Amino acid sequence: MPQPMTLERILKDPNLRALIDAANQHLAAQGYTDHGPRHARFVSRFASEILRRLDYDEREVGLAAIAGYVHDIGNSISRVNHGVSGACMLFPLLLQMDMPMADALAVVTAVGNHDEGIGVITSPITASLVIADKTDASRSRVRNGTPEPGDIHDRVNFAIERSRLSVDKDRRVIFHELEMDSSSSIMEYLTIYMSRIAMCERAARFLSCSFGLTINGHSING
Ligand SMILES: [Fe+2]
Ligand SMILES: [Fe+2]
Repeated sequence: MPQPMTLERILKDPNLRALIDAANQHLAAQGYTDHGPRHARFVSRFASEILRRLDYDEREVGLAAIAGYVHDIGNSISRVNHGVSGACMLFPLLLQMDMPMADALAVVTAVGNHDEGIGVITSPITASLVIADKTDASRSRVRNGTPEPGDIHDRVNFAIERSRLSVDKDRRVIFHELEMDSSSSIMEYLTIYMSRIAMCERAARFLSCSFGLTINGHSING
């Protein structure tokens, strides 16, 4: 009888860690910001936290944590359609680890739909994964702590001194509050994050919430 999978087992699995590292290296070579274990743990933590704060059951909270940790492994093959490729790679691995079929399917649906290019939000696990992933923007994602001046993603991330995600269950609002220094601008943030903000709004609506983005005290979409 398959046992419920725990995040602890996922974190200890050498195959999944190797895939996260390979994905991160493939993106590093192309100049992308950090997609390694730090990003994986951040998304895992906040995807599960969003559902916990909204009183989803422990099964969905746990599956969101797992989906968050493994969501970017498809980048080990290609950035293009990495959600779908990652889901296809992940599915047999989860079943080999004796994850129940329904749980494995819930995880691969979320992973396969987290990318703003093609993702469709059809479950709370997907919705929370999307919000946690798209709001991970901060100085710590700039590799080696040194931004490439000509790279807008580096400039924007490096300018983000603080990023805070919070859930107001009573008002049904998921807040993303950013503080940026003057080395980039709100306009530059919006230039590269607009499609991700729109996907967060869709994800929040799926959870019967709104998504409120604030940058340097200015409400951007409220
Ligand atoms: Fe991704
Ligand atoms: Fe990601």
